Amino acid sequence: MNNGKMRRPGGPGGPGGHGRPKAKKGTFKRVLKCLFEDYKGMLIVKYVLIAVFALVSVAPAIYINQMVRIMNDGLDLIRKQGMTPADALEKMMPIILTSVGIMLCIYVIGLLAAFFHTRLGAIITQGFLYTMRRRMFNHMQSLPVKYFDTHNHGDVMSHYTNDIDTLRQLVSQSLPAMFQSILTVVVLFAVMLSYSLWLTLVVIVGVIAMSFVTKFIGGNSAKYFMKQQRSIGRTEGFVEEMMNGQKVIKVFCHEEQSKKDFDEINGQLCDDATKANRFANIMMPIMGNIGNVLYVLTAFVGGAVVISGIFNPSLAGIFTGETVLDVAIVAAFMGMTRQFTQQISQLSQQTNSIIMALAGADRIFTMLDEEPEADEGYVTLVNAREVDGEIVEVPEHTGMWAWKHPHKAEGTVTYTKMQGDIVFDNVDFSYDGEKLVLEDIRLYAEPGQKVALVGATGAGKTTITNLINRFYDLADGKVRYDGININKIKKDDLRRSLGVVLQDVSLFTGTVMENLRYGRLDATDEDCIAAAKLANADGFIRMLPDGYNTMLTGGGAGLSQGQRQLISIARAAVADPPVMILDEATSSIDTMTEEIVQKGMDALMKGRTVFVIAHRLSTVKNSDVIMVLDHGRIIERGSHDKLIAERGTYYKLYTGAFELE
Ligand SMILES: Nc1ncnc2c1ncn2[C@@H]1O[C@H](COP(=O)(O)OP(=O)(O)OP(=O)(O)O)[C@@H](O)[C@H]1O
Ligand SMILES: [Mg+2]
Repeated sequence: MNNGKMRRPGGPGGPGGHGRPKAKKGTFKRVLKCLFEDYKGMLIVKYVLIAVFALVSVAPAIYINQMVRIMNDGLDLIRKQGMTPADALEKMMPIILTSVGIMLCIYVIGLLAAFFHTRLGAIITQGFLYTMRRRMFNHMQSLPVKYFDTHNHGDVMSHYTNDIDTLRQLVSQSLPAMFQSILTVVVLFAVMLSYSLWLTLVVIVGVIAMSFVTKFIGGNSAKYFMKQQRSIGRTEGFVEEMMNGQKVIKVFCHEEQSKKDFDEINGQLCDDATKANRFANIMMPIMGNIGNVLYVLTAFVGGAVVISGIFNPSLAGIFTGETVLDVAIVAAFMGMTRQFTQQISQLSQQTNSIIMALAGADRIFTMLDEEPEADEGYVTLVNAREVDGEIVEVPEHTGMWAWKHPHKAEGTVTYTKMQGDIVFDNVDFSYDGEKLVLEDIRLYAEPGQKVALVGATGAGKTTITNLINRFYDLADGKVRYDGININKIKKDDLRRSLGVVLQDVSLFTGTVMENLRYGRLDATDEDCIAAAKLANADGFIRMLPDGYNTMLTGGGAGLSQGQRQLISIARAAVADPPVMILDEATSSIDTMTEEIVQKGMDALMKGRTVFVIAHRLSTVKNSDVIMVLDHGRIIERGSHDKLIAERGTYYKLYTGAFELE
C-alpha cells in the first residue's frame, strides 16, 4: 500500500498537516484494535470459518486433477487391458462415487462455514458501528465549546454517516474478503508448487504484472479517496448550513448564489469521486484481461511441457518421484490460474475500499483524538446543613449547598457555604490566543447582588459570562466563586450552580415539559409549572395545542422568538441555582410583556446573584451595580443613579436609548 501519499483531511480548523506517512498504518492498526477489543472471540470464530471456506474453495482444482486421473485410469483399462467400456465403468464406479461423495461433503462444510461467518459478520459489524458511534458521540459531548466554534457542523455530522459507512464496508466486506483472498492465494500457491514449478512460474509472472498495475493505479487513487471523503464532509456541511439559513437566503434572494456555491462544492466532490473511482473501476477489466492472457499462457506452456516431456520439478515430485507433467495436472492448473487471478484482482479491489475506509477512519480518529474539555477540578458541590454553626455534608436535598474542598496535603476536607459570590481578578482573555477580548476585568458580585453588564455590541459581555461557565479558560487572572478559584471546581458542579439563559436560545426536540426539565432532571411536573409561572411563560404554554405536552421540533420552530426566550428563562428557573446569568433574556420580548416578564425575573432573581446583560437599559436600571464595557474593558461602574450623574458613556447610552424609545 502506498503510505507516502496519505494526507490528513484538513477540515475547517483541522490543520491540513503533511508528513504523516504513518497515518494509514497507525489508523489500520487502531481500527483492528477497536474491533478486537469487543469482539475477540467472535472474530476468531468468524475468521476460522472464513479459512475453512477458503480451503473449500481450493478443493475443485484438486478435484479436477483427481477426476482426470480417474478418467485416464478408466481409459487405460479399456485400451491396455482390453476391458469393455461397461466393465471399465463398473470397475471405476466405486472410486468415482467416493470422490463425488467427498466433494459433496466438502461443499456442505463450505456452505455451512459461509452461512455462519456471514451471520457472525453482521453481528460484529453492526455492534462495532454501534460502539464507534457511541464512542464518537460520548467524546463529542466531552469536547470544549471551542471545538464547535472551529468545526463545520455538517462536517462533524458526516463522521456519523459517511465516514462510519466506510468502516462498515471495511469490517463487513473488505477485511473478510482480504483475509479469504490472501489465504486462498497462499494455499493455491502451495498446491501449484506441488504440481509444477514451470507452470507456477508462469503464474508468478502474471501476478507480477498484476501487482505492477495495482500499484500504478491504486497508488493514485489513495489520494483521491482521501479527497473524496473530505469533499463529502464539505458538501454535507454546506447543505446543513443552507438549510439553517434558508430564511436568510430567501430574504436576500441568495438562491442563485447558493446554487452556484453548491455547484462548485458538488463539482469538486464529483471530480474527486470520479478520479477515485475511475482508477478503481479500471482495475477490474485490466485485471480480468491479464487473467485471461495468463489462462491461455498456462494452457500453452502446460501443453508444451506435456508434449515435450521435459523435466517438471515439483514439490509432490520429491515424494512421488514423478518427473513429467501430465494432462491431469495441466487441467487442474487451468482452474487454479483462473482462481488465482480472481483472488488477486479481488485483493486489489479491496485495497481500494480499505484505503477509503482508512480515510474515513482517519477522520473519525482525528475527532476522537480532539482534546476533551479538561477538568482538573476537585472541589465539588454537596448538599449541606448547618449544625451548631458548622457546615456538614448530608445526602438528602436540603436546599442548602456547600463546596466540598479536599486538601490533599493535610488530608482534611473543608466546606464552604455556597452563596454565589463571584469575583473577577484582573482577568485577561482571548479566544484565539492573540487578540485580547477582555482586558484587566475586575468585578465583584456579592451574594444576592444584581450585576448588569452593558456596552456596545462586541464589547465582551457574553464573553464574561462564558468565563464564569468555564466554556473557555482564562489567559490571565482569576475568577473566584465563593472565594474558590473556579479552576479548582469540578466543571459539572460549577455549571450546576449556575442558571444560564443564553443569548442564542436552544430548545430540543421534545415536549415543552421535557424542555423545561432540562434545567434539572429530577424536577417534578409541578416544579416545572411553578418555574414557568415564575417566568410568566405559563400563560402562553397553556394556549399551545397540547399545553405542556406540545411537541417542539427543530429548535422550537413553532414558537415565536420571545416565547422561546420565555421557555429558556423558565428552564433556568427550574434549576433553581444561586447564580443566574441572563444574556439578553428579554431582548425579543415586547415592552408590554417585558414588564410582566420583568416581574417574573425579579422574582426569579430574588436572593440570587444575577448577571444581566441587556441592550435595553430599562431592564438593567434597578441593578445594584452596572458595569459599562467598552472593547473588553470596564470603563464605568456604579449604580444607575451614580452613572447618570457622572454623565459618561452610560449616560449617553441611556439617554440615547431613551430617545430611541
Ligand atoms: N467564539 C468566538 N471566537 C472568537 N472570537 C469571538 C467568539 N465569540 C466572540 N468573539 C469576539 O469577542 C468579542 C466579544 O464578543 P461578545 O460575544 O462577548 O460580545 P457581546 O458584548 O456579548 O456583544 P453582543 O451585545 O452583540 O452580544 C467580539 O469582538 C467577538 O468578535
Ligand atoms: Mg452577547
